[in-house]
Amino acid sequence: MSASFTSFAPGRVNLIGEHTDYTGGLVFPMALELGITMTGTLTEGVVTARSSNQSNDIHFELPVDPQSIDSWGRFIASAAMHAGTGRGFDVDIDSNLPAGGTGLSTSSALTCAALLALHGDGDRVELAKMARASEIAATGVEIGNMDQLSSLCGVDGSALLIDCHDFSINPVPVPEGLEILVIHSGQQREIADSEYATRRDACFAAEDIIGPLRLADLAAVETLTDPVMKKRVRHVVGDNHRVRAMAAAFEASDIPLAASILTEGHRSYADNFEASTPIVEEMIDHLVTQPGIHAARLTGGGFGGSIVAFAEPGSNPNVDTWWTASAPAQGAHITFY
Ligand code: GLA
Repeated sequence: MSASFTSFAPGRVNLIGEHTDYTGGLVFPMALELGITMTGTLTEGVVTARSSNQSNDIHFELPVDPQSIDSWGRFIASAAMHAGTGRGFDVDIDSNLPAGGTGLSTSSALTCAALLALHGDGDRVELAKMARASEIAATGVEIGNMDQLSSLCGVDGSALLIDCHDFSINPVPVPEGLEILVIHSGQQREIADSEYATRRDACFAAEDIIGPLRLADLAAVETLTDPVMKKRVRHVVGDNHRVRAMAAAFEASDIPLAASILTEGHRSYADNFEASTPIVEEMIDHLVTQPGIHAARLTGGGFGGSIVAFAEPGSNPNVDTWWTASAPAQGAHITFY
């Protein structure tokens, strides 16, 4: 076996619906044109990888305990084990996503690009579930399904309304006249070192009292007696509603409404979920004063990373690191030759 291949998997920006996926709620992300490309050949159980933005190469034989491999190589080792084919590869990895900790799902893109090669393409929802399990094994953090579904199921020019309970995915075109910007806050964070897991625990503890959050309304949330739990869950239940409202605003091309939902989502993420940071708040305060920028929100798992902004086409956020986001014509794919 020495098939040569190129695989690509994009990062994502989440427009609304944070910390809703692992309780089977709604999310509204968009795949990015930024992503990870792997070029190489399949092997019989030996993995060798070089990355354009990492100083260390990786090399190991399968089977392998992913925990015995350091840093980014652990995601590759976990993907190789979860693919379950015994296949390895010899690859060059090229990424135009910034290396980890940006809230743009770099590790999902890495995992998905590896699985497309090591497992092979197929049912994308099943592949996304495999990618999630692989990432959880690599990091020990029980993330949800949003990032892998966004990377593998992206649709040109559209955000994805994803129901993380039944895995239905409905593409909703980005309205004409709305430009989506992604801005790096400058604050890197790894999800494993953040308060992601404690937020997740609060959501599941609340479910023990009021039932599935994906079905809960705000009246049920108000019956919770623990004030911290109540705030956390107020955010999650509110974001489930905001996903539907944002998708409807996109369908109606109502940009002012979409922008107001983005702002409301950020306030809830910062005040109820307490997932923001002083650096992010300062950046958002700056962004919303820039000409043409309607609204901005912390995106992804929280505690740093990136900000998503809604803007008029051609707007300049006047910050160091930013991208114009548009879901690419060709999303995740693999080509053998
Ligand atoms: C990270 C996780 C996702 C999701 C978001 C928060 O990106 O990987 O599963 O929980 O945080 O919305």
